[in-house]
Amino acid sequence: MSKVILENYSKKINKKEVLKNINYTFDSGKIYGLFGRNGSGKTMLLRAIAGLIYPTSGVVKIDGKILHKDMSFPPKLGIIIENTHLLPQYDSFTNLKILSKINNIATDDDIKQSIKQVGLDPDSRLKVKKFSLGMKQRLSIAQAIFEKPDLLLLDEPTNAIDEKGVEEIRTLLLNQKKLGATIIIASHNKEDLSVLADITLKMDEGKLFYEQA
Ligand SMILES: Nc1ncnc2c1ncn2[C@@H]1O[C@H](COP(=O)(O)OP(=O)(O)OP(=O)(O)O)[C@@H](O)[C@H]1O
Ligand SMILES: [Mg+2]
Repeated sequence: MSKVILENYSKKINKKEVLKNINYTFDSGKIYGLFGRNGSGKTMLLRAIAGLIYPTSGVVKIDGKILHKDMSFPPKLGIIIENTHLLPQYDSFTNLKILSKINNIATDDDIKQSIKQVGLDPDSRLKVKKFSLGMKQRLSIAQAIFEKPDLLLLDEPTNAIDEKGVEEIRTLLLNQKKLGATIIIASHNKEDLSVLADITLKMDEGKLFYEQA
């Protein structure tokens, strides 16, 4: 469970305000769909919540704790932002096995299960450098969920995935939601948003708007 609160959050980069006084509460067990034009600030908002950028003013609170003060990063975070860092010289299982050593909470079984859930073969020895774009994206999703995160931040997670894959990923995300995760998905895919999102949010020139369903 992660309740994420943004209070008066603003971020300026080179005098340009890329996030403008954002106030919003994200609750657990819900999927938030984030849409908006190119450059409107979707990725920046996900970076802010992930603790990857510092606010110019305002705060992010996660379960009552202040990001960058009480902790460096959200605990139990699963994330896909732009180019994720898969290791090209290793296969799927080895990639996640290496990552799992950081937190030491996922078992080999958890790893295999998550690789299966995204439609890849956990026993395949094919190296990531030989993966198609969609296969890499699938593995990135497995990487984001294999530790059963409380907070899942996904930046256009399915834009390279085929139709059947998108169905599989949707099922998987609904499952994560049932487990109680707080999920925020930035997407240009209206269908993703309408099928998955409990709440739709729009970014426009750095401001966040609640969209009536
Ligand atoms: N590293 C950076 N340095 C300076 N400005 C940046 C940087 N990254 C993004 N920006 C600016 O921040 C603003 C928001 O960008 P952001 O990447 O969040 O948009 P987005 O909504 O994710 O767009 P897209 O739909 O294209 O992914 C844009 O004006 C962009 O130019
Ligand atoms: Mg973006």
